[in-house]
Amino acid sequence: MILRRLWRKAVNNHIVIKVVFVSHQDFKSARKALAKRLSIFLPDTEADAESWRWFEEGLGWGRARIIAYGEELVSWDLENQIDAWFNRRKDGEPWVYILGWIMWRGRRFNVTPETLIPRPETELVFESAVQLATLIGARHAVDVGTGTGILGITLALDTSLDVTATDISKEALSVARQNAQCLNVKLNWACGNLLEPVNDPIELVVSNPPYIDLEDEATLQRELFFEPRSALFASDHGMEVVTKLIKQSIDRNAKGLVVEIGSGQGDELRSRAACMGWQTVDIRQDTAKHDRVLIARR
Ligand SMILES: C[S@@+](CC[C@H](N)C(=O)[O-])C[C@H]1O[C@@H](n2cnc3c(N)ncnc32)[C@H](O)[C@@H]1O
Repeated sequence: MILRRLWRKAVNNHIVIKVVFVSHQDFKSARKALAKRLSIFLPDTEADAESWRWFEEGLGWGRARIIAYGEELVSWDLENQIDAWFNRRKDGEPWVYILGWIMWRGRRFNVTPETLIPRPETELVFESAVQLATLIGARHAVDVGTGTGILGITLALDTSLDVTATDISKEALSVARQNAQCLNVKLNWACGNLLEPVNDPIELVVSNPPYIDLEDEATLQRELFFEPRSALFASDHGMEVVTKLIKQSIDRNAKGLVVEIGSGQGDELRSRAACMGWQTVDIRQDTAKHDRVLIARR
């Protein structure tokens, strides 16, 4: 009777009634249950951290909201959404591809299976590039193998450098262009092999090229197989593409080069760069003490 009266009132007043079916689980326990499910294939601490990311980035339920309103019941829709995500994740698909974006240095970048998932260690490339640009007085930089565009776009936004971004993959380049559009920044774009598609004089080259040894492929974690092979692997113990870039950069009279490299590649690449004519070559290590960035100057 009460319901009928409420219904008539709602219809007369054009009120839209939304019926939400809820599960028996509240947000607090659903988050914990997810961590437990993820721990079937992830170490416990990673599973816990990732479950927070799903809730925070995927559902908009971060720690503060869960602490304040965690007793609210999860709707059936959200429960189904979590199940669908879980089915993809348990087959090895990285969370970032499921979500479709990632934050890098405080900005949101769209990520697709045609692009590498940006890594935190690439921040060292960015920081080294900013320092080298100042030292050599560069006004223009080329980001080679831009992928989602993180390096080129961030350089264009946070410095006064005019940036050209290149990639051999048309699909990756189109993701990078969309990211630049979303972030409201202008770059020059070129598709092709390393520096070949760039016609203008080159001052500073910045790059995170593929550098994983092809021979290590079989031993790698399954998540990596979802990323484009051309973004990851190189022959010559992983150093083929980096070596070509070091050579092309000096041949094109670049004043400086900052390139991400693999762990243990520092000594060999330093001596190759010196042999090619680079005057000063430094190797920077990341926080885990792995060779990570080669910085070369004329
Ligand atoms: C390791 S990913 C880096 C992506 C992005 N810069 C980042 O740091 O997340 C390497 C990128 O280089 C591109 N690439 C591979 N070989 C290339 C080549 N010979 N010339 C230009 N780009 C290349 C791949 O398509 C991929 O987007």
